[in-house]
Amino acid sequence: MKIILGPASADLGLRVAQMLSLEPLRVSAKTFPDGESYVRIDGDVENEDVVIMQTTSPPQDTRLIQLALIADAAKRNNAVKVVAVVPYIAYARQDKVFLQGEAVSIETIARMLKAAGIDALLTVNIHQEKVLERFPFPAKNLSAIPLLAKHFRDRGLEGAFALAPDKGAIYIAEEANRILGGGCGYLEKHRDRYTGQVSIKRGDLNVAGKVVVIFDDIISTGGTIVSAAKILRENGASEVYAACVHPLLVGDAEKRILEAGIREVIGTDSVPSSVSKVSLAPLLCDALKEL
Ligand code: R5P
Repeated sequence: MKIILGPASADLGLRVAQMLSLEPLRVSAKTFPDGESYVRIDGDVENEDVVIMQTTSPPQDTRLIQLALIADAAKRNNAVKVVAVVPYIAYARQDKVFLQGEAVSIETIARMLKAAGIDALLTVNIHQEKVLERFPFPAKNLSAIPLLAKHFRDRGLEGAFALAPDKGAIYIAEEANRILGGGCGYLEKHRDRYTGQVSIKRGDLNVAGKVVVIFDDIISTGGTIVSAAKILRENGASEVYAACVHPLLVGDAEKRILEAGIREVIGTDSVPSSVSKVSLAPLLCDALKEL
């Protein structure tokens, strides 16, 4: 098996290749003056099973096209099986029709990847795992929440309260609580489907005097974390941290979050960023060994 280092995840891919003693193949990528993407795999994939490592955080359209082009190039050069490791898979939040006339974007993306030559996919904390059942190839979801919780535990935050910003993410807080052991809960979040505005109601929380870590799959604009921080302050939490698997951190999200009183934001290298302090490499290595 060889690992193709997609331009969006070259560092993570190299770490995984080194840990598994697999040959890494670089990709030459460029953008034409009109904005179109170009890729070329620098190496031989003939008769090989290959793993393409490519996250699809912003600019997500470009990164998805690069992934599709790399898969096509691999198959054209007679790779046998093409597995995509896509730590952050874009468009996963549009996993159903919320308003009449919409697309189910994640299904469109999955069909596009299949057409490009991808045979199987590994991803991390996709927004709703169930959507993978509708993918046209075998797809597996891994959870990085234990790695994030261990990061906090190893820094002395054992016993912290694990909070999910909405009921649908309570399983994330429960997973973290199995490691931190300080209890868990959720807030009640509502997002306006037209404006995107988030409003959070206080849940029934007993966090007075406690250290709280908010766990979420994605931090995008930071709006969810900022609203949650406000509620936690009103409920008397002593210190609040934020953890996420995919730190998209659009615009000045990190600054807004810190200004809202969050002590620190921690994310993974699913999306390389200033807060990506936890590496997914061990998690991905274990999953690839199983493959
Ligand atoms: C949505 O349900 C996700 O789980 C995240 O809570 C959301 O994407 C975060 O977005 P933002 O940082 O813009 O509030």
